[in-house]
Amino acid sequence: MKIVKTIDEVRSQVRQWRAQGLSVGLVPTMGYLHEGHASLIDASHRDNDRTVVSDFVNPMQFGPAEDLESYPRDIEHDARLVEEHGGDIIFNPEPEEMYHKGFSSFVDMTVLTQELCGLSRPVHFRGVCTVVSKLFNIVKPDRAYFGKKDAQQLAVIRHMVDDLNMDIDIIGCPIIREDDGLAKSSRNTYLNDDERKAALVLSKAIFLGMNLVRKGEKSCDVITGSMKELIEAEPLAKADYVKIVDCATMQQIESIDRPALCAIAVFIGKTRLIDNFFTEDV
Ligand code: PAF
Repeated sequence: MKIVKTIDEVRSQVRQWRAQGLSVGLVPTMGYLHEGHASLIDASHRDNDRTVVSDFVNPMQFGPAEDLESYPRDIEHDARLVEEHGGDIIFNPEPEEMYHKGFSSFVDMTVLTQELCGLSRPVHFRGVCTVVSKLFNIVKPDRAYFGKKDAQQLAVIRHMVDDLNMDIDIIGCPIIREDDGLAKSSRNTYLNDDERKAALVLSKAIFLGMNLVRKGEKSCDVITGSMKELIEAEPLAKADYVKIVDCATMQQIESIDRPALCAIAVFIGKTRLIDNFFTEDV
């Protein structure tokens, strides 16, 4: 396993693999890897001959008041995890390598991005689409792996790949949770002890919503209302959104009468965490 810093190095390695007829998987990450990322690397290792893990905190997807500077980084830890899970390369460029002076081309989307995280993070998906397109152009993988925790991101990337005829299979992998239910996230490291306990309100709300759907509740107001009540009872938590949307359009719906995504974003202190479930999976 090696860490490479430049686009030229990744390209030349991938070219050698291609010359040997090997397939290539890409796991795009912002580093500070945890078991959620490990499950993506495992899936890529299972499906492909070689796996590239990109490890890049992408400045373009952070708003001015967001946590770009404090976002956790630990490349040595990441290297150990990638090696243990069978990854072959970590692509860990500096921002100047990805965005040269004068960089001025962007990939943006007019659908799917106007709801949920797109409302509270207006520049986020343009940054994600741009960097993921660049990573796809650099690595040219056969398959790319994304977690379902970022369900809207996964939908946006699938749509981009379809719109722009990118010849890449997008594989969505299940949410990985801590033993007590909290969805794994690099941002969990921001939480102090009290906040860590309070953060359980996210998974509790998700499990409550899932139970209501399982019991046959169809009204989105009833489901999200119960979830919000539970979140509001936690003094350290403040809901950004608790919504149920059509999986295909990401637009809010009133009744569970089609495949839907129930997604939440909650501030625990200053840390914004997300979680979700698909009604089809309950
Ligand atoms: O999900 C993430 O970690 C990021 O949004 C991604 C896909 C690596 C793009 O920077």
